[in-house]
Amino acid sequence: PDELRALVDLERGAIDRRVYWDEAVYRLELERIFARCWLFVAHESQVAEPGDFLTTYMGEDGVIVARDGNGAVNVFLNSCTHRGNRISLAEVGNRRRFTCNYHGWTFGLDGALVALPQEDVYRQTCPGFDPGDLGLHRARVASYKGLVFATFDEEAPSLEDYLGDYRWYLDVLLDNDEDGTEFLEGSIKSRMACNWKFPAENFAGDSYHAAWTHNSGAMAMLGMGVGKSNQENSYQINVNGHGWQFGLDMVGNAMVLGEQDIVDYLREREEKVAARLGKLRSRMVGSISSANLFPHMSFLPGQSTFRTWHPKGPKAIELHTWVLVNKSAPESLKSLYMKGVMRTFSPSGTLEMDDGDNWENSTQTNDGVVTRRQKLHYALGLDSGIQHPELKGAVHLRKYNDSNQRAFYRQWLKLMCDERAHVSRS
Ligand code: FES
Ligand code: FE
Repeated sequence: PDELRALVDLERGAIDRRVYWDEAVYRLELERIFARCWLFVAHESQVAEPGDFLTTYMGEDGVIVARDGNGAVNVFLNSCTHRGNRISLAEVGNRRRFTCNYHGWTFGLDGALVALPQEDVYRQTCPGFDPGDLGLHRARVASYKGLVFATFDEEAPSLEDYLGDYRWYLDVLLDNDEDGTEFLEGSIKSRMACNWKFPAENFAGDSYHAAWTHNSGAMAMLGMGVGKSNQENSYQINVNGHGWQFGLDMVGNAMVLGEQDIVDYLREREEKVAARLGKLRSRMVGSISSANLFPHMSFLPGQSTFRTWHPKGPKAIELHTWVLVNKSAPESLKSLYMKGVMRTFSPSGTLEMDDGDNWENSTQTNDGVVTRRQKLHYALGLDSGIQHPELKGAVHLRKYNDSNQRAFYRQWLKLMCDERAHVSRS
């Protein structure tokens, strides 16, 4: 723990570059963060019907997310209990059961072993053979307003506690309309050669980069620069390492999509949303903002891009991107959102290319043998904490601020120093 604590100096806002390249740090992150936290695995709209399933990752562990005949969503390892073969090679589909390609063991939608070839041979020659012990290893599952989360830690707090007051903010995204949200069909998977924490902390609180990094992209795409954002009416909030930075301009992020119809849609709905969430949160719905739910689920409210940054070693990620919209939004608007996300924050998006370049270069340079001895600067807004009559969690004034990044690393350090043995159901 002492060695870990030396990496993160939150008092002065200094971070050791080792957290971005060291293999041992990375291995510990998989154990103590990704095998313990509640991780976003699916939107309920992706597994709406019995038999619907998809495959994704929890850390580097492949998992299947499947809805069974009773309507429950199950999450279990995508690795056979016999010899470990990958069970589902498909990334998405609808099945009654999953049959392993190697010897034909067959598992139900809840992961239970339901059939195997020549079962009688096992019964005769394998003492104590019990198929009930040989189901696929299951995770705990819980959902919040359409988002399904899972954890492999039996001792993890409830999802409600894990999210805490961040739920009040999540409702801006997930509950500004009575019909809730959905993912538009399809996801995009892409790779970046960067450490997973760079994009996560960027979405948690790096408003500061936008006017600089994205200015030329915005000029090319929209014919106008990003411009410095209004600092006086803007905030960073954090809860349990989850961060959200925002202004209260209501439509700013939507304007980045360059679609006037979306801006009009948000303006038309403002009163209705205010009646539902209150005036202040209604101003957040489409505002210039970004957010990250610890550790690796990010989104841009009002701009509909929604993503997870799956770690693939200290210097690589697999990025999954979706378009999240209100279910009741008109179809014509949904396709505008889709187009807008593709143009901005997707692998072909102008603004994603800006960010990816920075994160890859930051990851690569931090590993230099001399470079790695120099600390990084995370001290912006050290004294910006305020009390606010409405906002929940830790509130900081001005979104040009490193307070959410520091909160991210505070949570990171807390989990990394937690030495209890990993607890998971067998
Ligand atoms: Fe799956 Fe043998 S490895 S049935
Ligand atoms: Fe960016």
